[in-house]
Amino acid sequence: MLTASAHPSSACRACFVIGHPIAHSRSPMIHGYWLKQLSIAGRYDRIDVEPWALPAFVDRIRAGEFAGGNVTVPHKQSIIPLLDRLTEDAAALGAVNTVYSDGALIWGHNTDAAGFLVHLEASAPGWADRVETALILGAGGAAFAVAHALLGRVGGRIIVANRNPARSKALKAHFSDHPSASRIEILDWDQRSDAVAEADLIVNTTSLGMKGQPELDLDLRGLKASAIVDDIVYVPLETTLLREARRRGAIGVDGLGMLLNQAAPGFERWFGRRPVVTSELRRIVETDITGMAS
Ligand code: ATR
Repeated sequence: MLTASAHPSSACRACFVIGHPIAHSRSPMIHGYWLKQLSIAGRYDRIDVEPWALPAFVDRIRAGEFAGGNVTVPHKQSIIPLLDRLTEDAAALGAVNTVYSDGALIWGHNTDAAGFLVHLEASAPGWADRVETALILGAGGAAFAVAHALLGRVGGRIIVANRNPARSKALKAHFSDHPSASRIEILDWDQRSDAVAEADLIVNTTSLGMKGQPELDLDLRGLKASAIVDDIVYVPLETTLLREARRRGAIGVDGLGMLLNQAAPGFERWFGRRPVVTSELRRIVETDITGMAS
């Protein structure tokens, strides 16, 4: 029998981030900060779940052990058939990064596109009015989220350049039912620098420029001084791409803001309070990243 104290809304709510590997996830740092700041008696733990163990883990959510949590590589797609419902954002991307229970059903949601947009708007207010042409570098999961965010907001072209052309074609095909799908154009990876001069917004969604990875080789000589350059890489915080773009007068948008802002909607679902991405939180995560990047 359920006693009042055992009711999920009054118990200490437990949440998770699952992935494999998961040791480097910063999500516990972010959610732990909000729990403390808002004096919520909740938990948010990093749990390593190997692919074979995913169905049993979802059973634990179903049994009420968790209010929800975050999902990362390699489970973002494979978790879908194990859930009851997908939100529109998760269905549009075919990927889940946030799971929650509504008391009866287990939902899969995706906050990557929203997190990207919130940070872009904060860093370059009114950006959509001045972006006619956007250039997306990469065609992995992050590129799908960025393309989803930009479709319907960018008035002109959305050019996608990826090393492996099959993946950029798959991205275009994935969004073929979207009313603005015809705006997506595929460009050869070798020609990426040719599109720089036309772009009002450039988004790097590849892992290039990340600590331990090769640099992104992009010729910025033609970059418009009015351009916005968004790098979703956040280790290091200021990538070579961002430094060079800012030196040329463009607005640089770092990847940390997207990371922090994609976390907020999940927290609100699980714990019932809207958390704020404060400058203190940014500093805490920045310090951790700087320690890692040096
Ligand atoms: P995520 O889900 O974070 O986007 P991903 O699916 O592994 O991660 O995608 C990584 C992106 O970085 C891809 O666009 C990948 O290009 P390929 O599809 O051609 O692999 C890109 N990338 C990684 N290393 C690269 C490299 N050395 N040169 C060019 N692109 C690279």
